[in-house]
Amino acid sequence: MNIVILAAGMGKRMRSRLPKVLQPLADKPMLEHVIEKARLLGSNNRLIVVIGHGAEAVKAYFEKDEDITFALQAEQLGTGHALLQALPYCDQSEPTLVLLGDVPLIRPETLKNLVQAAGSGVGLLTVRLDNPRGYGRIVRQDGAVCAIVEEKDATDEQRAINEVNTGIMVLPTRYLERWLNELGNENAQGEYYLTDVIARAVSEAVAVNSATAQTATEVEGVNNKVQLAALERAYQKDNALRLMNDGVTLIDPDRIDVRGELVCGKDVTIDVGCIFSGKVVLGDGVRVGAYCVLKDVEIGEETEILPFCHFDGAQVGKEARLGPYSRLRPGTTLADQTHIGNFVEIKKSVVGLGSKVNHLSYIGDTDMGARVNIGAGTITCNYDGVNKFRTTILDDAFIGSDTQLVAPVTVGKGATLGAGTTLTKNAPDGELTIARARQMTIKGWKRPTKNK
Ligand code: UD1
Ligand code: CA
Repeated sequence: MNIVILAAGMGKRMRSRLPKVLQPLADKPMLEHVIEKARLLGSNNRLIVVIGHGAEAVKAYFEKDEDITFALQAEQLGTGHALLQALPYCDQSEPTLVLLGDVPLIRPETLKNLVQAAGSGVGLLTVRLDNPRGYGRIVRQDGAVCAIVEEKDATDEQRAINEVNTGIMVLPTRYLERWLNELGNENAQGEYYLTDVIARAVSEAVAVNSATAQTATEVEGVNNKVQLAALERAYQKDNALRLMNDGVTLIDPDRIDVRGELVCGKDVTIDVGCIFSGKVVLGDGVRVGAYCVLKDVEIGEETEILPFCHFDGAQVGKEARLGPYSRLRPGTTLADQTHIGNFVEIKKSVVGLGSKVNHLSYIGDTDMGARVNIGAGTITCNYDGVNKFRTTILDDAFIGSDTQLVAPVTVGKGATLGAGTTLTKNAPDGELTIARARQMTIKGWKRPTKNK
């Protein structure tokens, strides 16, 4: 079939410079959610997106998606006019499913039901809402749909109807050329309404079948930031329920945000206020403390993350202990049983088995072996203002506190660096290397006193 997504509207009510359909829900444009749902209906459908307001930005965002055909609606004259712009790209012998770029949470199962209900006629997806305000109302006679009336054009009696148009419908494509070209715009908004084709179908005795959506959230349209936030919460709550049903312990399902994919093993516990984005994989028994932000990370079994950590692009082994207040930046790999403590930043580095960086340190561009102990306040000086250099720390090295390792430099196997060392040359295996002024005591020295 043809799947046409209407996404040309400007979304005045968003009061934003960003086109409405690019407004993000869970970190992803609403339109991308809709496109993903459309793709789940099968790969041999034609996917056409009608763009207009902010067309360049929308096109640029989906530049790499070769399965999308864009139809331009230069002037936004209404949903009927929008569909007309897509018609040249549609296969006349197949039905056309119309989706809206601002109805992001629609479920593929619901769409499949609708397509089935439509048969060779029109299929209309409706829903009953406690508060139908803003939506087109479904007008029925003796149970059969006879028209859709927009809120702004409705009589008081029609406004009381609580069955509404979700905007999602299946249409027999062969009639559209005629139906859409003959739409009028004599209505409250001066627009060519797609919804008017329903009365037209009825008048031509083309069957109009309806299907209902199971939940209100999946057909909720987003016209302003309030609705966007409400839908975001609904989406997050759904995610949270799914995680809990899979056995994840969420201390509070109302205080977790998954903006991407979160894959959890058995007996994972997540405390409040955590945000997961990109793809995050948590192994069996992982515990995530409160207020952690994790993006594109993989955490091994039984690792514990204490509160307030920020990880991005890192891989962590088993039984590690991280945080509180640790930062892992892209290109970081921590082996099993590592300990990373408070106010430690690690970037593009490998930390070997059982090594510890417990306090106030910066480790960048470093290859660290196993069982290394890094004292508090250690800094790898990896940057001379132009180039970056690597630091190598071999197995069992012990780095005293407040040490600077001026890269490129290597600390040998089992080497010890005295506290306060500024290391500019390699430190040999097994020896104590120290670079600091010798301590002395001046005997009999007196503090100055004030002259009275
Ligand atoms: C529309 C329906 C209404 C339905 C509601 C469901 C019409 C006339 N009304 O109203 O019955 O209850 O959706 O959410 O169809 N668009 C274009 N070009 C245009 C106008 C709109 O591409 O010229 C796109 C918008 O980007 C949007 C979608 O169509 O994605 C719906 O447009 P919108 O203006 O939000 O319609 P509603 O007033 O919500
Ligand atoms: Ca809308």
